[in-house]
Amino acid sequence: MNELNLILLGPPGAGKGTQAARLRDDFDLRYIATGDLLREHRARETDLGLRAARYMASGRLVPDDLVTAMVAEEIEDAPGGGFLLDGFPRTLAQADALDAELDRRGHPLSAVLLIDVPDDVLVERIGGRRQCPDGHVYHVIFDPPAREGICDHDGKPLMQRDDDKPETVRERLRVYHEQTEPLVERYAAQDLLRRIDGTLAPDEVYEQLRATLAASRLEQRA
Ligand code: AP5
Repeated sequence: MNELNLILLGPPGAGKGTQAARLRDDFDLRYIATGDLLREHRARETDLGLRAARYMASGRLVPDDLVTAMVAEEIEDAPGGGFLLDGFPRTLAQADALDAELDRRGHPLSAVLLIDVPDDVLVERIGGRRQCPDGHVYHVIFDPPAREGICDHDGKPLMQRDDDKPETVRERLRVYHEQTEPLVERYAAQDLLRRIDGTLAPDEVYEQLRATLAASRLEQRA
């Protein structure tokens, strides 16, 4: 089977983490989510975590050099099946660094999956998001757990992320449009971009992703 090297691109709250959980179950991909990795570093109070914390709390991006070094290490460890990047790259400089790293390792990108959702829907989604300490994600209305406030997978309590406060969400959206959205044009010009309508229900979004990946594998074989 062909190696799949994928980027999940999209604004905060688009459903990248929700869809990544499904993709990980169905495809043998190394999952690299920079937001999750940075939160782990912050919880362990590593040097990187302590440096990243103030950027994350205010909704700004962590400096490129810190994030890029962290991702390079993760890709280095990825087994042959391919990888799924969630939340990286987020700037043109990060995309350049990723290209250089993949060129060096001879692992080209297969596709960039853009989950497209308008800002007003994102604010509603992020406002209702709850997650457990191990990262299982729910929504109080759209994807509630069986028992309110408790994770279905591990029985741990669900919490709201500290950067999900309304003023921080507004800043994250502003930063997305200013610094991350230019990547859409870049990857479209490289014919890697695949647009997914993220406003649909999670199962329908996943069906689009699967169909896109099936087409992408066929294209690679042709
Ligand atoms: P990160 O953790 O990557 O956050 P994000 O990109 O802002 O994305 P989110 O996790 O908020 O949303 P998501 O798209 O995963 O949506 P989810 O599936 O949870 O980054 C956090 C911070 O870390 C950044 O602000 C930055 O400071 C730093 N950082 C990370 N990467 C960096 C980088 N590369 N460079 C620099 N700094 C970096 O879904 C959201 C909610 O909606 C959930 O409640 C879910 O249940 C619900 N939902 C999902 N899909 C649907 C649907 N189809 N219909 C209805 N509800 C849905």
